[in-house]
Amino acid sequence: MLPACILVEMRIKVLFFGIAHDLSGLQQDEAEVPEGASLDGLWDRYAARFPRLKDLSNVLMLAVNQEVASRARVLKDGDEVAFLPPVSGGSNEDYYLLTRSPIPTADLVRQQRAFEDGAVVVFEGVVRNNSHRRRTLYLEYEAYEPMAVGKMREIGEELRRKFEIDHIGMMHRLGRLEIGETSVAIIVTSAHRQAAFGACQFAIDRLKQVVPIWKKEYFEDGSVWAEGESQGRVQSPIEENGGSPRIARNGRGLTDTPVENYLKTAIDIAREAGDLLLEHFRQPLEIRYKRRSDLVTEADRKSESLIVQRLQSHFPDHAIVAEEGGGQRTGSDYCWYVDPLDGTTNFAHGFPIFGVTLGLTYRGEVVAGVVYDPTRDELFTVERGAGAFLNNQRLRVSNNRNLVDCLVATGFPPFATNHDLNVEFYFRFTQLTHGIRRAGSAALDLCSVAAGRFDGFWELKLNPWDKAAGTLLVTEAGGQVSSITGKPFELLGDDVFTSNGLVHDQMLRVFSEVLQRRGSVDVRPPAP
Ligand code: IPD
Ligand code: CA
Ligand code: CA
Repeated sequence: MLPACILVEMRIKVLFFGIAHDLSGLQQDEAEVPEGASLDGLWDRYAARFPRLKDLSNVLMLAVNQEVASRARVLKDGDEVAFLPPVSGGSNEDYYLLTRSPIPTADLVRQQRAFEDGAVVVFEGVVRNNSHRRRTLYLEYEAYEPMAVGKMREIGEELRRKFEIDHIGMMHRLGRLEIGETSVAIIVTSAHRQAAFGACQFAIDRLKQVVPIWKKEYFEDGSVWAEGESQGRVQSPIEENGGSPRIARNGRGLTDTPVENYLKTAIDIAREAGDLLLEHFRQPLEIRYKRRSDLVTEADRKSESLIVQRLQSHFPDHAIVAEEGGGQRTGSDYCWYVDPLDGTTNFAHGFPIFGVTLGLTYRGEVVAGVVYDPTRDELFTVERGAGAFLNNQRLRVSNNRNLVDCLVATGFPPFATNHDLNVEFYFRFTQLTHGIRRAGSAALDLCSVAAGRFDGFWELKLNPWDKAAGTLLVTEAGGQVSSITGKPFELLGDDVFTSNGLVHDQMLRVFSEVLQRRGSVDVRPPAP
């Protein structure tokens, strides 16, 4: 045992970068410090030894074991400390960092400021003590770290293209955070305030969309992956057990990530378009033909022009692909797929099964969607990772395991013929299941799979606007989606097959048997 008067020395590896290296003449050093020494103490020791280092005191960032750390940090034997001065020259002065220690926002600001700057805008995301009326105890963040830093850097490059700014600093905290602590800090400096404000807002919105960082909220009665700051949210066990949902259905009470806000707007638009369809449904119709058996009504056109106008006014940058041709190409990462009236043939015949659907993709992947059935006032909403809902009720697919107990559905293109492959599938599934429905609105069929009303649905030739929202509804409700040959689903492909997941393989086998009998795997229907 050591006598009480002996202080235990710790060995710390110290790295000097950039100008800190020039001013000290050291690249690396090994320091011996007493137990309990702080990072600040270590810095003071080097500043005393190399007085020119003192000039860096206000702008230096300190890191321990590759994480930025506050100066009060108590060191441990074997720690690796790095002195990180700003690197001069253009955007190299920017910081993109993940840290498990408290974010030293003030240090960051001090470091980013320059005499040319007329504005410094700082955004801090702070841990709230409640979420959706439940008391939050603490949070935990995790990230796919190398990718997260890369994405932050990309955001910085985007900021520089869009705004006249000087410096950017972005730090996100990982690990456990207590109430009131800063989870993310964004600092933008510029000559004028407008650019700094705009860039800062843009940066935090973008960060929430694209940086792979996830947040877990801990409550008194459990925890939930929620309000993740990337797109890939994870369904929580609490939600699965019927706890309060992440996303308010009908668009009420949605929180503040961009996709949620996009969905909220889409919900309002779908309701407005649905009401318009209903008005027209009660009036005499003027039908036109796009081609044989392919109808289009005034209601299709009016609904589409309403939806496109609304989307354009809310999201002028977003691309829009709408069935009747009223969309726009913008080169945006976001694209809306719009069917202003799904179930036109039903509509034209006075058969009340039709709806409006809007699906939003981000870089080709569906991230949110809405399907509104105005005759039943049923609103289906979905956001990737946040679940599928029908009028405020969380949706869950059915739990039928045997094909013979299933009710399935399909559809045919307007120009289907007797030689259509789907006639053969239809025939076979009629023998093997409780029955098949061909209700005439693919979007609503998909909603019925998500709601557990149907156990499966397939169609061989559907456009992306028919299936964008619906397929996400099915997967978010716990179901499965693929092609009819079991390949991964492609939004821009022809066919789609969705099920409750439990009968997916059984149904795939039936498709495969019919295809083998036919001696072809070409799922395309004959040309019109
Ligand atoms: C049609 C419906 C129908 C499906 C057709 C679609 P539309 O859409 O979704 O159920 O079987 O393939 O074209 O023309 O009514 O918008
Ligand atoms: Ca359609
Ligand atoms: Ca349509």
